[in-house]
Amino acid sequence: MAEGHYILGNRDSEIARLEIQASLFEPLTKQTLLNAGLKKGMRCIDIGCGSGSVTRLMAKMVGETGRVVGVDVDNRYLEYCNRIITSRQNIEFIHDDIRKSQLGSKERFDIVYSRFTFHHLTDKREAVRAMKRLAKKNGSVMIQDLDHAPGSWLCYPENKVFNTLRKVYVALIKKGGGDPLAGRKLYKLLIEESFNVNVDCYSPCILMGQEPYSSLGWQLAESIKPQILEHGLQSEHEYTKMYEGLKKLAKDKGSFVTYSRLFSVLGKNRE
Ligand SMILES: C[S@@+](CC[C@H](N)C(=O)[O-])C[C@H]1O[C@@H](n2cnc3c(N)ncnc32)[C@H](O)[C@@H]1O
Repeated sequence: MAEGHYILGNRDSEIARLEIQASLFEPLTKQTLLNAGLKKGMRCIDIGCGSGSVTRLMAKMVGETGRVVGVDVDNRYLEYCNRIITSRQNIEFIHDDIRKSQLGSKERFDIVYSRFTFHHLTDKREAVRAMKRLAKKNGSVMIQDLDHAPGSWLCYPENKVFNTLRKVYVALIKKGGGDPLAGRKLYKLLIEESFNVNVDCYSPCILMGQEPYSSLGWQLAESIKPQILEHGLQSEHEYTKMYEGLKKLAKDKGSFVTYSRLFSVLGKNRE
């Protein structure tokens, strides 16, 4: 796996995991977009749109007089996004790599948004600069991203396989050139790039035994299995033990896990 290779891949099972994760975070994301100033008629862009859940949410929120663009570096996600949208009136999906994006020279937006993408990027600063170029003067750059510090993956009662999943996932993010602690670094990064910045932090509890969210752990393991084996982070036997342990945990009523901390950073573009 080369540096910059996206570790979660694009298989159908990963797209399904993204959709479940998106529904868990939808109320928070909606509120975050409102806090960022999203209103009917606005122009918004969603960077690293994946399955397009936030792009679709924004399209609903801006209404027919607004316009929303979803951007991803992976054509398989863009094909999925185009396949499932019911109306193309105010929504478009574009192929682009945010680290070297030139989109900002063509069109500027009221809200420039990205979620769950920054900790995978090899160059966060270039991506922030590209997002700034995409924002209108006084427009909002809103980044929501995770921070995979050990304490933020809490499972109670304690569960060894859950800790193992965090360790292999963090190791893979680093191998892909990403930063598992990206979430906490966004605030300073936006200050350094001359934004007016606000930051917030959130970590939902996921109750085991309650589908679909209790499955997110083993689903993540499934998505990263090829890379785990390719890098020799686990043998097939070790992986299977972890995977089966995560399936058992998902059914264990009385246990809960907390999602890794999600930082929401809102920058107002002064330039
Ligand atoms: C974890 S997914 C998040 C998807 C979506 N934002 C969500 O919240 O469900 C990260 C997405 O970022 C995309 N991505 C990774 N590197 C990128 C880059 N350099 N430019 C644009 N998209 C990128 C991946 O292809 C993937 O679809």
